[in-house]
Amino acid sequence: MAIDVSKYPNVNILSHPLLKHKITHLRDINTGTNEFRNLVKEIAILEGYEALKNLHTELIEIQTPVEKTMQPVVSGKKLCFVPILRAGLGMVDGLLELVPSAKVGHIGLYRDEKTHLPQQYYFKMPNNMEERDVYLLDPMLATGGSAIDSVSLLKKHGAKNITFICIIAAPEGIENFVKANPEIPLYVGAVDRCLNDKAYICPGLGDCGDRIFGTVEN
Ligand code: PRP
Ligand code: URA
Repeated sequence: MAIDVSKYPNVNILSHPLLKHKITHLRDINTGTNEFRNLVKEIAILEGYEALKNLHTELIEIQTPVEKTMQPVVSGKKLCFVPILRAGLGMVDGLLELVPSAKVGHIGLYRDEKTHLPQQYYFKMPNNMEERDVYLLDPMLATGGSAIDSVSLLKKHGAKNITFICIIAAPEGIENFVKANPEIPLYVGAVDRCLNDKAYICPGLGDCGDRIFGTVEN
């Protein structure tokens, strides 16, 4: 299933060579747990740099060794990073390297093995979600069910300004996500070919949560 992303103005498929290089190693079955975790963090930094490009700035006065000058700093707008457990956890440290003061909420979902539908088991957010720029994090966008349910939960909790960052997406997941949330910017590291009959992304990287936490041998 090919996808024409030009139809979707809010879908950003990233193409930096460093990002592509790191995603290739992430996919490799011979990449072990430690390297896999480091790669997810580095990829989150590269994607986060792009996804945070519209952060608001304000001018402050500083003194250089030469003179006083007005220069931009990121303004105090409240940020919140929200990983979808478990695999989204792997992206949090990368985003926090970029904005250490951000708050972190958590959404716990797992896919039912038979139906592939997300099952919720946890939800905890910082206060004042309606005032925050919320960045939802999950390396995998497969059917889109987990991301779509997460956005619904965030909206129910008051979040108004949501951006979704994933590493690998299936065309089906992008289509479903955009249909449900056309207004939400989506940042994607790679778009793969399709889903298989277990709703795994092909070629993908396998089960991302298991690979980050080492719960299954490669
Ligand atoms: C994976 C992944 C996403 C979801 C994507 O989580 O991290 O959350 O699947 O699939 P979808 O787009 O079809 O919903 P999983 O359900 O394997 O949970 P886990 O990370 O806790 O193992
Ligand atoms: N979740 C994963 O971790 N991998 C996939 O390919 C699909 C869903």
